[in-house]
Amino acid sequence: MNIRRPRRNRKSASIRAMIEETTLSINDFIYPLFLIEGLGKKEEITSMPGIYRFSLDLLLKEIQECVNLGIKGFCIFPSLGDNKKDKYATESYNLNSLYNKALLKIKTQFKDVVIMTDIAMDPYSSDGHDGIVENGEILNDETLEILGKMALAQAKSGADILGPSDMMDGRVGYIRKVLDEAGYSQVSIMSYTAKYASAFYGPFRDALDSAPKFGDKKTYQMNPANTREALIEADLDIEEGADMIMVKPALAYLDIIKLLKDNYNVPISAYNVSGEYAMIKAADEKGWLDGEKAMMESLLSIKRAGADIIITYFAKEAARLLNK
Ligand code: PBG
Repeated sequence: MNIRRPRRNRKSASIRAMIEETTLSINDFIYPLFLIEGLGKKEEITSMPGIYRFSLDLLLKEIQECVNLGIKGFCIFPSLGDNKKDKYATESYNLNSLYNKALLKIKTQFKDVVIMTDIAMDPYSSDGHDGIVENGEILNDETLEILGKMALAQAKSGADILGPSDMMDGRVGYIRKVLDEAGYSQVSIMSYTAKYASAFYGPFRDALDSAPKFGDKKTYQMNPANTREALIEADLDIEEGADMIMVKPALAYLDIIKLLKDNYNVPISAYNVSGEYAMIKAADEKGWLDGEKAMMESLLSIKRAGADIIITYFAKEAARLLNK
C-alpha cells in the first residue's frame, strides 16, 4: 500500500475545516435587485422564485434586511413600462427617472453600502438592444454618447460603481473620460469584460421585459466558443480604466474566471446569472437535488475559480446560511 493516504486529511470535520483552501464570505457578494414604479409593490419573478421586483419603498426595506445579514453590495436594475422606452433610451439619463432618484435615495439612507448600477440601453430601449439600432444593426460609436450620459446621471445620483454591460467597443474609456471631466474621478467602473451571448440570461429578460425585439446579441456579446478573445477584452478594459473586470455568466465560464485571475491584477468579479439561479431553483422545487447544497457548492466553485466578487441572486439565502 502506498504510504500517501490523502483520506487522512479528510478524517474529521475539524481537520477538513483546518485545511480548507477556499472560504466563502458574505463580503464577496453583490445582490442584484429589481426596481419598479409604484408604492407597496412586490412582484415575484416567475422564472426566478424568491426574487422580486420591488417599488422603492419596499426595496429600501429589502436593502435594510440584507444589510442586517451583512451584505454590503447591491446592483440595481430598473424595470420600465413600455411608455418609458424609446429608440434612444432617453429615460436612462433623466436625473428625475425612477432609477436615478432611487439611487440617490438608497445612497442617502445607506451611506456604507456599495451601490452598483447597470449601464446599457436595453431596459430603456424600445428595440430591446443594448445599443442604438439602425437598419437592423447595432451602432457602436453613436451608442457611446448615450452610455456616457447614462453614466454621468448615475454618478450624479450617488452610484459607487458603474457597470457597463453593453459590450460596445471603447465604452470604458469613453465613460471614464466623461466622469473625470465632470469631476467624478472617484466613481468606479466594473466592466462586464467577458460577457458572453448566453442563453442563461433568459429569466433576467423576463424580469425586465427587455428581450431583443429582433435578432440576438451576437454582434456585441462574445461567442461562448472563445477563450483568447476574453484576454483582448480584458486588455482593452484595463487600459481604458476599468477598476474591476467581470466574467458573465459564471458557472459555464469558470475557465475564463481563472484565466483572467491568472493574468490580471485587478479584482475579478463573476456574475452568477439568472438562468444559473433558475436551474437550481427549478430542480430543487422538483425535489431532484438539494437546492441549498447546490447553491453553496456553485458559489464556492466560482470563488475557487478565482472570483473576488460574486454577483448572485443567491446572496441573501447564502448569507443566512453563512451566518448560522
Ligand atoms: C443588460 C444586462 C443583462 C444582464 C445583466 N445586464 C441581460 C442581457 O445582456 O441581455 C443579465 C443578468 C442575468 O441574467 O442575471 N445588458
